[in-house]
Amino acid sequence: MKSRLIKPAENFDRIARSYETMERLAFGSLLQKARTAHLEKVEHAEQVLLVGEGNGRFLAALLEKNRRCQVTCIDQSRRMLDLAENRVQLRDRKRVRFALNDFEKEPMSLPEFDVVVTHFFLDCFAPETLNRMLPRLSDSLSPGGTWLRADFVEPSDSGTIASLQRTVLRALYYFFAKTGGIKANKISCPEKKLEALGMKENGRSSYLRGWITSSIYHKSPCRNPDRFARITIE
Ligand SMILES: C[S@@+](CC[C@H](N)C(=O)[O-])C[C@H]1O[C@@H](n2cnc3c(N)ncnc32)[C@H](O)[C@@H]1O
Repeated sequence: MKSRLIKPAENFDRIARSYETMERLAFGSLLQKARTAHLEKVEHAEQVLLVGEGNGRFLAALLEKNRRCQVTCIDQSRRMLDLAENRVQLRDRKRVRFALNDFEKEPMSLPEFDVVVTHFFLDCFAPETLNRMLPRLSDSLSPGGTWLRADFVEPSDSGTIASLQRTVLRALYYFFAKTGGIKANKISCPEKKLEALGMKENGRSSYLRGWITSSIYHKSPCRNPDRFARITIE
């Protein structure tokens, strides 16, 4: 008997349409709260880069809050970009540029932005990928610029809730490996690398006992590459 082979997913196309429903069922409005936790800090930004923006929920909130900024929105999934584009009102279409790009393998060349946003994106990657990707992201942020980042965090304590959260994380990584093609199988901590690249964390909102965090970083106003830039994530 022939077995039906399901091709492994290469990107998030397959789950793009159901992504929001799954998110709402699993987390309610919490992830959107995390995405928008520092929104008011970028209401006067002019050039904003969203990487791995997905279906555009942050984009829509940003365009509503900041009525002037120009946005570049990168994602590897055509369907995610289509969903994001559909959220943009007619009056805002001219200020958003959508780019289908694999930022891991063939990162497009970018000018400098005053804000970079990576929500639930960095936690999709293994350390060796982050070691290449974070300097590129940092290069696209102007000195003194702002980086917004929301991600899951591996719980470090013992106890029932933490071990439940660890189990859910394993399940999420398994699910996104099969359906979204992600290669990482656990969370890597990018904090030291970000610090080495001149990012200073100036605010953090935490949810579900720190399982989800939303941070705001400011890049050093000095252009010199940091002396610790060789630090790697293990
Ligand atoms: C976990 S989802 C997060 C989406 C959204 N930012 C959010 O807050 O829900 C990861 C997103 O990153 C995109 N992505 C994954 N790998 C990528 C890559 N190498 N280059 C560009 N986008 C990528 C996926 O298509 C997906 O939309």
